Order: sequence, then C-alpha cells, then structure tokens
Amino acid sequence: MLDAMGIRLWSPEGTPQPPAGRGEGTAAAAPEPAAPVSSPAVVRDRPVGVGAMDWDALREAVAACRACKLCEGRRQTVFGVGHARAHWMIVGEAPGEQEDRQGEPFVGKSGQLLDNMLRAVGLTRGEADAARQVYIANTLKCRPPGNRNPEPEELAQCEPFLIRQVELVRPRIILAMGRFAVQSLLRSHEPIGKLRGRVHHYQGVPLIVTYHPAYLLRNLEDKAKAWDDLCLAVQTLRSVPA
Ligand code: URA
Repeated sequence: MLDAMGIRLWSPEGTPQPPAGRGEGTAAAAPEPAAPVSSPAVVRDRPVGVGAMDWDALREAVAACRACKLCEGRRQTVFGVGHARAHWMIVGEAPGEQEDRQGEPFVGKSGQLLDNMLRAVGLTRGEADAARQVYIANTLKCRPPGNRNPEPEELAQCEPFLIRQVELVRPRIILAMGRFAVQSLLRSHEPIGKLRGRVHHYQGVPLIVTYHPAYLLRNLEDKAKAWDDLCLAVQTLRSVPA
C-alpha cells in the first residue's frame, strides 16, 4: 500500500530517499493554487472565553457554535481527535461529507491517505502514547456546503477554537496540511510550494507545511515532496528538547 503511494517507511537510521521515478526530467507538478488575498474578515458574535476553556468546555462550545453561517448546513460539528497531549498535531482544512456524517476529521479518502502517511513514520490516530498518537484538528469545525473553500469570515470565527486546541495539546510539532491551514496558522498567502521545506513556528511550536492529502490524491507526483515534509517534521521533532 505504501509503495503504491510512493512512500517509503521511515527509518530512524536512514536518510529519507525519494521514491523511484522522481527527479530531473519528471514533469513539473501543478502547484497548489495560491490562496485568494482577501480583505480583513468582518467578525461578529465571535465565541467568547474560548482562551480559558478546558477540553470539555471547548468541545461543548464548538458543538453549540452558531458564529457563522456554516452552522446552518452541518449535520454536526467536527471537533478533533487524538491524544490530548500529543507530540504531533495535524491541522487540516474543514470537514467533508464523511466527516460531517461521522463527526471525526479525515475519515474519507483524504483520511485514508493521511493515515497511511502517519503510519509510514510510526504514528497513528488510534490509541497509543503521546509520542505516537497524533492529535488531528481542522481550521473549520463545520462542513462548508458542497465542500467549497472556507471563507475568510468563517476562518476568522473558527480560529479561537483551533488556537485553544493547540494551547491545550501543546504539541512538539505541527503539520499544517494545505493552504487554509497555512493561511490560518502562519497568516501567509504564499503557495504551499514556497513555504514547505523549512521550519516555521506557531505559538513557539515548530510547524512544517505540507500539501493537503486531497491535493496529493489529485497530484500523485507531489507525494514524494509530502514524504520529504514528513521526514523534515520527524527530524525537527528529534532536535526539539523534550
Ligand atoms: N479534509 C480536511 O482538511 N479535513 C477533514 O477532516 C477532511 C478532509
């Protein structure tokens, strides 16, 4: 399965090698489209007190949130899953149809790819210790209708929840997947291709930028870069004092 993805298992001793077929002469990958540059969002009815909430209060606040129009079309909110003190935090974009049905992030096709990527570096969303079980959250907790792109106001309204999740988990590394996660966390409108390959920081936590799994499913040739990003995250985490 991993071979089919073009991803090799992480070896602590070995330097990550690109999968066969990549390199000079490979057709250039289509870059992820640049994020739209938008004017500052108008923020109304922003959830209050989020910054002091514990996990239970935060979960309830998300479930009850009606701060933007996405609440009208959702089946349920999608809070996040994983170890409450995970070393790794994965940040995606927004729930899709399956996530909206099941109430868990990344359970559709993108989620299968994400799980395979995590497994390749010894991580899991299933029960494990804090070093191996990740925490997965999205920038938006409600599904945008028809899986359209998040709007700036929606991102702004939902942001306090993600900020608090990061504060509570206090991860040792953050993997930001796709342009909306990057837009929210790094306040950058640069394309992923320009931001990946180096270490950024969010709330003092090292942050690695990578492609969104949904993008990788459409652009198989960029899986090798995503693998490099994962390896960079592993290396970065190893260099962070415990
Ligand atoms: N894509 C995301 O970014 N998050 C999900 O939960 C599902 C798909």
